Amino acid sequence: MPTLHRHRSDPLNVKEFRTLARRRLPRRIFDYVDGGAEDERGLVRNQVAFERLTFSPRRLVDVSHRDLSTRLLGGIASAPLLIAPMGLSGLVWPRGDIELARAAERAQIPFILSTASNVSIERLAGEAGGDLWFQLYVLHPALADQLVARALKAGYRTLVVTVDVPLNGKRERDARNGFALPLRYTPGVLLDGLLHPRWSYALMRDGGVPELANFASADASNVEVQGALLRRQMDASFAWDDLRRIRDQWPHRLIVKGILRAPTMRPGASNSEPMA
Ligand SMILES: Cc1cc2nc3c(=O)[nH]c(=O)nc-3n(C[C@H](O)[C@H](O)[C@H](O)COP(=O)(O)O)c2cc1C
Repeated sequence: MPTLHRHRSDPLNVKEFRTLARRRLPRRIFDYVDGGAEDERGLVRNQVAFERLTFSPRRLVDVSHRDLSTRLLGGIASAPLLIAPMGLSGLVWPRGDIELARAAERAQIPFILSTASNVSIERLAGEAGGDLWFQLYVLHPALADQLVARALKAGYRTLVVTVDVPLNGKRERDARNGFALPLRYTPGVLLDGLLHPRWSYALMRDGGVPELANFASADASNVEVQGALLRRQMDASFAWDDLRRIRDQWPHRLIVKGILRAPTMRPGASNSEPMA
């Protein structure tokens, strides 16, 4: 057995990490990470689905050498895990995106950088190695094209197109907390910061509240793009033809994230022609 060098207060499991995060983070940041949309039924159902899974081990098998590596969506990973794209990781802790990507590299699993990251596509590729994937939110077609080109140029080899946010969810905790970007320094925000000095100090030392880094250099000449950025709403018209356009720009692996059911086919149509 390897010796575990740990502090008595080090968290041992996800539940304990959650307790620690709740203590360390301002309420509105914790709720942004911890919360779901509306009555949070999806969150509960996901947990219940995992709880239903049980292992059925085969005994009296030589397991002195164990190997969790597996093929994962066409690549190889050291375990059937990846770090899902998470927006605003840098608001949870300074350089959050970079730290996560480096941890994934050490663990030899893929890391997916969110469109809504606090470090740019290019900077992450410069500061972390490993299997880096880029997740695309389509706010506007022209903006999507720019992001896809940047990810390609920066050396990402897997593009993950998120298609389950045509409209932003009704996240009630965020609405109640007045959590919105850019974070405005309201009395509530300031008080939350004062009550969580380690978080505030860490952020301040790193240059303050981080921006949505991938949009900092977006094409300012396109008024429609600027409007889309200001609204922070997805392009709700995004459908199969738009996906095809992105597919044509991306010569490598492309994953569509958020599919819950097969498309409805037109009677007599081939599989490649889902109903619009
Ligand atoms: C704090 C947070 C931020 C997220 N941001 C994104 C995002 O920017 N893009 C995206 O496609 N999914 C995003 N997601 C969804 C995750 O990628 C993932 O699909 C979801 O959390 C379900 O996986 P889980 O059950 O392991 O949490 C986010 C999830 C969380 C908790």
